[in-house]
Amino acid sequence: MKNVLSGIQPTGDLHIGNYFGAVQNWVRLQQEYNCYFSVVDYHSMTMPYKADQLRTNTWKMVFQLLACGIKPEHLFVQSLVPEHVELSWILSCVTSFGELSRMTQFKDKMDQLKEKDKDAVVSSGLFLYPILQAADILIYHADYVPVGKDQEQHLELSRNIAQRFNHQFGKEYFRMPEPLFTETPKILSPADPTRKMGKSYGEKHYITLFSEEDRLRKQIKSAVTDTGDTPEGEMSPGVANLFEILRACGQMDAHNALMTDYENGALRYSDLKETVADALAALTTAFRERLHTLNADKRAVKAQVQDSSAEIRKRAQETLREVREITGLLNLRS
Ligand code: AMP
Ligand code: TRP
Repeated sequence: MKNVLSGIQPTGDLHIGNYFGAVQNWVRLQQEYNCYFSVVDYHSMTMPYKADQLRTNTWKMVFQLLACGIKPEHLFVQSLVPEHVELSWILSCVTSFGELSRMTQFKDKMDQLKEKDKDAVVSSGLFLYPILQAADILIYHADYVPVGKDQEQHLELSRNIAQRFNHQFGKEYFRMPEPLFTETPKILSPADPTRKMGKSYGEKHYITLFSEEDRLRKQIKSAVTDTGDTPEGEMSPGVANLFEILRACGQMDAHNALMTDYENGALRYSDLKETVADALAALTTAFRERLHTLNADKRAVKAQVQDSSAEIRKRAQETLREVREITGLLNLRS
């Protein structure tokens, strides 16, 4: 069976963009592949953060992913497998400074930091981040990595690192990981449908998966439909976004019926919004219920994910034992 690996940073609450753009796909991949899904807390240390908040957000992400249908045996917390960092060091010694300097996400995040505070410290961890990502992938010999297009450059770097390692040590050891750019929709902000749904713009710009039904309905109700500057005969991005959400919820019959209305000029936006709100409410009610059940016995759930992380760690340790051998480091006697 082929291996799949992906990671998500513990950013707090999942929003419907995260779900339709990533997590929903992960849940499906579990049926076909040997999956490793990681809450990448080491990655979240590369930008300014608070220790307590990181811990809280890591568990929050674990619980929400489980509630979405990720199986506990496929889920682990990155820092519970410290071998990722060890491999990252070894890989940093086969990665050139030049190729790392070409990573555009580093520049973007650096600008973002400087914009907020011109004296902000840019950590070297932020610069090294793509090597840690390569280690996440290579340590489990992943064949496929489901990611968004924004991660294309990091994936390419992971492949280059694997190639360089294999070449330098004269052994076809690491597999070449392939990105899996699935047809996941890009969900737009309900308050400003010219931008991607995301947390960085503020509360109005994302719909969390686990918020109360009331809040969700209000947000859909107040979603911007007409921005006024859409060319004649084109669907405005706000309306297209609502149709996209309906499609992502799997409500194709309702989607097609409303689309026919739209084409005939008979669509009432209030009907479209109500249908979208109903679809989202139906989907997220199940998630909220599962989260509620998980929260009823937090300790057991945490123990389960700690145990699965320990189990997954054994595979990472196996890789490190081989890598140490290949690269001339010593191993403890076993
Ligand atoms: P982030 O925390 O923003 O890096 O997102 C985590 C995952 O969710 C990534 O795989 C993104 O591609 C996906 N994602 C985030 N925002 C959206 C969005 N508005 N539409 C679709 N996918 C998204
Ligand atoms: N860099 C990814 C992001 O910001 C998260 C990530 C870390 C990841 N390690 C990974 C994704 C390994 C795929 C594979 O979204």
